[in-house]
Amino acid sequence: MNEAAKLKFNRFREIVDEHLDKYIDVKYPDKIYESMKYSLLAGGKRLRPVIACEVATLLGASIEEILPTACAIEMLHCQSLIHDDLPCMDNDDYRRGKLTNHKVFGEYTAVLAGDAFLSYAPKLILDKTPKSVKPTQLMKVLNEFFIAAGVDGIISGQMVDIDSEHKKISKETLNYIYEYKTAKLFELAVKAGAIIAKAPKKKIDSLTLFAQLYGHLFQIYDDILDVTSTLESLGKTPGKDANVEKSTYVAMYGLEEAKKQVLFLSNQACDILEKSNINSEILFGILEDIVEGIKKCS
Ligand code: IPE
Ligand code: IPE
Ligand code: MG
Ligand code: MG
Ligand code: MG
Repeated sequence: MNEAAKLKFNRFREIVDEHLDKYIDVKYPDKIYESMKYSLLAGGKRLRPVIACEVATLLGASIEEILPTACAIEMLHCQSLIHDDLPCMDNDDYRRGKLTNHKVFGEYTAVLAGDAFLSYAPKLILDKTPKSVKPTQLMKVLNEFFIAAGVDGIISGQMVDIDSEHKKISKETLNYIYEYKTAKLFELAVKAGAIIAKAPKKKIDSLTLFAQLYGHLFQIYDDILDVTSTLESLGKTPGKDANVEKSTYVAMYGLEEAKKQVLFLSNQACDILEKSNINSEILFGILEDIVEGIKKCS
């Protein structure tokens, strides 16, 4: 990512971080709020909320108009991670360089913290979005939020992901897993940004296509890092996928093919941005970062 894009990315990330903290007050019963804040403020790249901020402001909305939605999307992402790490799911001890939520607060609190985000986040959109955003836009954003969060989104992706452990699956099933467990959240980020900015349907469709491609290559890159990275650089335990014979692109086609697929998808995603005149240094930049990252993986 070039320096200008990096600066802009960091500026969005700082505003998001500040608001994530501000949007949750700890009150009785303190433990649930503390558990939510523990995972939410543990760091993380903040990719999805930054993408939402970038798309919205690029297309003419103000940062104030998108911020509550951007933070809600990060809360949904955080929920998916807390539950993804549970012993009954991927059973992970580390996340974002810290012990996972259930390791610190216990399993029932981690389940409840995840549940809590699922309603806290859309309520935040309703409560905090400025009045300049019309109710019809809010309805559309919430509709996209509920699709991504629900059984037509992450839940079914996670369902098939876990049911595909220790199994041979088809290419179509693998694509389904990537589309639903990962790409849907990136789709939500671009769609929400575009809706808040009142973008025309054609723009929304191009951005959605970009998000689908990005979601796929992002997850393949995550699967590559699982076999090539360390706990220190990853902030989560590597080698977890092979341990449970998780069906990933790397497991099915090998590391080199996985890298080629990331490059292939990244070129397609670049083309979409160019052809639809989406001149976003941040969107080009996040693609570039993964392409650069791939070169260092062995
Ligand atoms: C992790 O997402 C979950 C996947 C979809 C692979 P990120 O890699 O964006 O996690 P954080 O937010 O930076 O911790
Ligand atoms: C992430 O898949 C998908 C969701 C959390 C919805 P992974 O299980 O590969 O993510 P990490 O590697 O634990 O972050
Ligand atoms: Mg998982
Ligand atoms: Mg996992
Ligand atoms: Mg992973």
